[in-house]
Amino acid sequence: MRIILCGFGVVAQSLVKLFDSRSEDLYAKYGLKPRVVGVFDSKGSAVDVSGLSLSKLVETKKKFGTVKNYANTKNSMSGIEMLKNVEADVLIETTASNYKDAEPGMTHITTAMKKGMHVISVNKGPLALAFPSLMELATYNQVMFKFSGTVGGGTPILDYAKNSLRGERITSFAGILNGTTNYILTNMSTGLSFESALKDAQDKGYVEADESLDLDGLDAAAKLVILANWIMGMKVTLPDIDCTGIRKVTIEDIKKAEKNNSVLKLIASCDNKLVVSPKEIHKDDPLGVNGTLNAIAFTSEHSGTQTIIGKGAGGTETASSILRDLLDIRQEIAKN
Ligand code: HSE
Repeated sequence: MRIILCGFGVVAQSLVKLFDSRSEDLYAKYGLKPRVVGVFDSKGSAVDVSGLSLSKLVETKKKFGTVKNYANTKNSMSGIEMLKNVEADVLIETTASNYKDAEPGMTHITTAMKKGMHVISVNKGPLALAFPSLMELATYNQVMFKFSGTVGGGTPILDYAKNSLRGERITSFAGILNGTTNYILTNMSTGLSFESALKDAQDKGYVEADESLDLDGLDAAAKLVILANWIMGMKVTLPDIDCTGIRKVTIEDIKKAEKNNSVLKLIASCDNKLVVSPKEIHKDDPLGVNGTLNAIAFTSEHSGTQTIIGKGAGGTETASSILRDLLDIRQEIAKN
């Protein structure tokens, strides 16, 4: 399967390492032979239609900070040139989420779809701002569009609700969808101030480069948009979410929750409304997970409430969700 990778950060590097270390098993078990024919990052690109060396890509990125130096050529193709001119079956979009105009991810995805390529995105921006129209574009161009890693990192939250609960009618759901704010709130519950808890989260590398995406609830809201569209069949985008982050949460709020036998968490919920907001959760509720964990509880008509818990971020974890998507695409292609 010929693959173009947009972005070569932690997730994409984890993915190529996974391809390398699991190559025999992926072929033997699933018939999957990933061939990365092009990669681009913000500084340049590397192309080889017969397949790039995965270890050399990682080494080049480590040494030069870009894949541009992979070959000894002065010029490298732009991302859009690559998408237009290099033949591939799947585009894997891993550039950073941007909730203003969703670029550059949006152009990567739409260009690839129009060219007939299947798309896997772990970039939430395009989905948060244009989920309904991207689904239409995929259908119109008869390509598959997969995005497991956008919610829950490696934890298969979307698959669980869509496939494991198939036939059920999910009536509502609520969850912790942002690991960074959960880590900060967990630390505040041990007495740390908001500022110290934020600094600790930043030192550990959890906080997005633009901290507002985590702290103001945008990341959780983007994930809520994806869930609402995919699981509940709603046609909504980011402005439809009533969103409040954690900047105004005080130690007093946390103590007040404790007195109520509860913990304060940033909860994304879909009931009658779509809301992201700090909320008290009873301390025995399985949703009240600590640290960077994510948790989501789906309430269904016949099977009651079920909670799924797991790591919501991380390079290897998110790469494993891309692999799941790729295997789904491989299986569909084989069927057809
Ligand atoms: N900033 C996100 C989080 C990363 O903390 O959950 C994963 O989307």
